[in-house]
Amino acid sequence: MKENRAKADAKPEALTVMAKEGGRWFWIKATPDAKKVFTDKGQPIAGKDVAMCAGCHAQAPADEVFTHDFGK
Ligand code: HEC
Repeated sequence: MKENRAKADAKPEALTVMAKEGGRWFWIKATPDAKKVFTDKGQPIAGKDVAMCAGCHAQAPADEVFTHDFGK
């Protein structure tokens, strides 16, 4: 789970969540209070095939996750 802020000291604009289900990532973009899911072209940004999330996370070092604590 990640709080998304424009700047380190700004209020969060969104929560983004990754959860593994059946070996695949499930993606969610929600309001900071986690009460509403954002939409894109009328579709909720939640599911296993959220191209906008997965497309960028495909560049992560391993398992589509950027912030692994490698070697610790
Ligand atoms: C343009 C590239 C990009 C897009 C699009 C993107 N992310 Fe990320 N995401 C990152 C980067 C880079 C990090 C690690 C650095 C940081 O935390 O800002 C990250 C971190 C995360 C993390 C913390 C785990 C990790 O990988 O480090 C979660 C959870 C997450 N993103 C979810 C999402 C979701 C859900 C979406 C779609 C709504 C999304 N992201 C879209 C680049 C992206």
